[in-house]
Amino acid sequence: MERKVLFVCLGNICRSPAAEGIMRKMLAQEGCRDVVCDSAGTYSGHAGDLPDPRMRQAAARRGYHLDHRARPVRYDDFDRFDLILTMDDANYERLHRMAPSVEAAGKIARLTDFCRRFPEATHVPDPYYEGAEGFERVLDLLEDACSGLLVELKKECREG
Ligand code: 4NP
Repeated sequence: MERKVLFVCLGNICRSPAAEGIMRKMLAQEGCRDVVCDSAGTYSGHAGDLPDPRMRQAAARRGYHLDHRARPVRYDDFDRFDLILTMDDANYERLHRMAPSVEAAGKIARLTDFCRRFPEATHVPDPYYEGAEGFERVLDLLEDACSGLLVELKKECREG
């Protein structure tokens, strides 16, 4: 069964494109072709931009190539995607306000709900105004959450 996952942050240049790149690599390593990933932002000011160079460099050091072009969340994303995973409370609440139906709102969840190594994590902090360690912390959280998400998606793929 094909599953479509959308990762959402504010600018779509740091956290969500990194989540998308990490997830794509994990899915490719597992040979799981039934899952489609994309990312978007609740703020459109960076539309068309590549991910922030600081995030691209930090991700590249861990073997992730990020080449997503930023785009804002659209209303049809609620139809196109099965699961919409947000980075923090602001994204979560913004998407709930945008959701066109109760069914659409039911697709929204927090990415940190899938964390296992960091079970106490409630959000992926915005690294935009942080130093280099902020980007490393984001990548640690995203790798943890994406590996937990992969376990769930693989179950669904097998059951599908
Ligand atoms: P992101 O980080 O939401 O992880 O992409 C940010 C990127 C840009 C801005 C804020 C956060 N900004 O204010 O432009």
